[in-house]
Amino acid sequence: MNIAVIGAGYVGLVSAACFAELGHEVITVDMDKEKIARLRAGGVPIHEDLLPELLRRHHGKGLHFSTDIQAAFQFCDVAFICVGTPPSPNGDADLSFVEGVAQELALALDDHKIIVEKSTVPVGTCEAVSRTMVLHGARREDFSIASNPEFLREGTAVHDFLFPDRILLGVADEASRRALTAIYAPILDGSYYRRASSLAGPTNHVAKLIVTGVKSAELIKHASNAFLAMKISFINAVANVCEGVGADVREVVQGVGTDSRIGTQFLTPGIGYGGSCFPKDVLAFRSVAKSVGYDFALLTEVMKVNNEQKLRFVEKIRKALWTLRGKKLAVLGLAFKGGTDDVRESPALEIVQLLKAEGASIRAYDPAAMERARGALIDGTISFAADAYDACAGADAVLVLAEWEEFAALDLNRIRALLKLPILIDGKNVLQPSEVRKAGLHYYGVGSEAEAPLIDSGSRQRFAVGNSDLSHPATLVSASGD
Ligand code: UGA
Repeated sequence: MNIAVIGAGYVGLVSAACFAELGHEVITVDMDKEKIARLRAGGVPIHEDLLPELLRRHHGKGLHFSTDIQAAFQFCDVAFICVGTPPSPNGDADLSFVEGVAQELALALDDHKIIVEKSTVPVGTCEAVSRTMVLHGARREDFSIASNPEFLREGTAVHDFLFPDRILLGVADEASRRALTAIYAPILDGSYYRRASSLAGPTNHVAKLIVTGVKSAELIKHASNAFLAMKISFINAVANVCEGVGADVREVVQGVGTDSRIGTQFLTPGIGYGGSCFPKDVLAFRSVAKSVGYDFALLTEVMKVNNEQKLRFVEKIRKALWTLRGKKLAVLGLAFKGGTDDVRESPALEIVQLLKAEGASIRAYDPAAMERARGALIDGTISFAADAYDACAGADAVLVLAEWEEFAALDLNRIRALLKLPILIDGKNVLQPSEVRKAGLHYYGVGSEAEAPLIDSGSRQRFAVGNSDLSHPATLVSASGD
């Protein structure tokens, strides 16, 4: 099948590469000339596992790059709209890029085409695309419009695309259903998994096909993301209770999550969810509800818990270190989560800004996101380290702010030797508390009883080991020096 993918962002580029991997002829279009030039030259503009391999495999064969949307549209049978839908100031998704594409497609329409909305959009967008195209001269009978939301996680997007739980098609006519089913056939019939060249994964993977109406498909995407965000806020709230009562959220998650009706996924507490999807989609979904007269107050609470989680974490750092002015902090992780270079809505960056505002100095390391973080930080005066150990040298404490696998495998004895004070504050519960303690570090995680704060308000003690665990090497030092 000939496919045009409009928009070469995270979703567009991964989808295009995966469609080529499934055996289709694909043209990826973006108006960003520099990005297209880079892709044509064999560059990979985003950090995404397996994407470089797919681009190498298919570039110049089944996969082409262009800035000419009209030519791409004329070449294809099916066009996927994958352009950005950023939040506007009032919380609605800004759909101006989608509208722009609809206008271009109307002008280029030469034959019957199937237009598929893949960007995350509010319910009713497909209808609006269709209306816009007709207003710009397209005949309604010359195109079909469908919704095919993606459920890709950044960092594992290629794998999620090729080994999905389900493929969701929101269709209004038989032509769309037939074309989309044919596009995904190698996944749906399992033939892709039996190919000698298929990417590593289970050879017996089974993906469910779900066919709905267009509006239901649009809504499923928002409802799925909002539900996952709710799970995270729920477990963050539970973690906060655990800290208060002295329970351990890791044990609680194990106990709660083994109920098959609940499951353990997306129940890792931390510093709150971020990224280009959850914050935007929860807001946009609430906005959709409001537009039809329903106050989705549950989502307001989900956002409130999420925002407070970052502030609670900074409070935790304050408790561990007393004052922050002049303190040197090693920050491990700047991306909105591990496995990606994306820093959009990154809780780690927000925390860095809060710490900077309180006078702390930051030396940060992230395996992939430092370049983007440099561009995103309003106050650019943080320094960047060559690796996690370099970040920790001479620091008063180390903070773990993204769930990179390499942070779970740190040489903690080496970290201990490099730090000025033996304090590790884990905002993502990446490390095992017992391992951290064995290395002689105080461990502060999310959702477990805190090590006794080095400074309790009202106390004059500078460092107090409030835990009877004698493996802690911390010493008692009085602030007044007496
Ligand atoms: C999310 C969804 O998981 C995808 O299914 C969806 O397709 C995508 O949004 C989208 O709408 O395009 P993504 O934003 O890439 O994917 O990242 P997630 O892995 O879902 O993580 C989102 C945030 O939640 C991160 O900040 C992560 O650290 C946090 N998180 C995740 C937790 O704090 N705890 C968890 O248990 C899981």
